[in-house]
Amino acid sequence: MVATAAVNQGLPPSLGSEVELLGVSKVRPKGAGRETGGLVLNHVHLHLDPGSFVAIVGPGGCGKTTLLRLLAGLEAPSAGHVHVGGQPVQGPSPRRGIIFQDANLFPWLSVLKNTTFGPLAVGVAPAVATARATHWLTFLGLGKFLHRYPHELSGGMQQRVAIARAIVNEPELLLADEPFGGLDWITREQVCDELLRLWHTTRKTFLYVTHALEEAVYVSQRVVLLSARPGTVAHVIEINLPEQRWAHADLRFTPEYARLVEEVREVFAEQTALAQSARSAA
Ligand SMILES: Nc1ncnc2c1ncn2[C@@H]1O[C@H](COP(=O)(O)OP(=O)(O)OP(=O)(O)O)[C@@H](O)[C@H]1O
Ligand SMILES: [Mg+2]
Repeated sequence: MVATAAVNQGLPPSLGSEVELLGVSKVRPKGAGRETGGLVLNHVHLHLDPGSFVAIVGPGGCGKTTLLRLLAGLEAPSAGHVHVGGQPVQGPSPRRGIIFQDANLFPWLSVLKNTTFGPLAVGVAPAVATARATHWLTFLGLGKFLHRYPHELSGGMQQRVAIARAIVNEPELLLADEPFGGLDWITREQVCDELLRLWHTTRKTFLYVTHALEEAVYVSQRVVLLSARPGTVAHVIEINLPEQRWAHADLRFTPEYARLVEEVREVFAEQTALAQSARSAA
């Protein structure tokens, strides 16, 4: 019974959290870490409704990963406020899951044990952790691979485990940093559909960074375009496509989809051109 309650079977899922960034800037010390440091994010205002799916795109190096790291609590802003669920973000928490391009699985643990690792670490009872992990792994099509090891899985399957590992903690916010960048296009489209189904089922708040403009349109309800570094919100485009996109096999061939991709592409090109002219003027 505890295990059933733990995966919310048959119950309406609780919405993910509201996300608020108010005047967020990030300065890195000169010479610290990779590249030059300096102002990375400049006065970012961003609001995500609870349970929404928002994509972020922007030129290389404009601060997308930095923005996710601030939301994950891996770094603190230099100015401004980062709030999730009405609370200031003050450090990492399993309530804010993050998925990177590399699945980062523990090679010595099975798929199931990779997935129960997080809940067990925060004191969830083993039977509940196993029930939750089995539920989400099965949801993501890995029910037959629970006892396999990461090296026995394809890249797409490893990313599905990474998704299960984030969602098993029942996060209020799921952050994804180009999670499918290393996959071939067909696998990538399949895993995007899995992610959309997962969002539709869980109603958590999803924030998804990608370089692929078509993918940003396909997965999200809203695309946020950042300017070139120092990144700030340059434009927001609402994506009014049907929610259950995986059920519309021809969605990517519709005029509305093409129009939205073109709109995102135009703003992206403008931002890239602005960045180039700023560089040549410097
Ligand atoms: N630890 C660090 N120390 C100093 N500068 C850093 C550090 N991490 C990132 N930067 C710089 O901050 C800027 C933003 O980096 P970030 O990784 O957030 O950009 P991004 O938009 O995710 O880039 P990409 O599109 O390449 O993934 C870049 O110019 C980068 O070189
Ligand atoms: Mg990045």
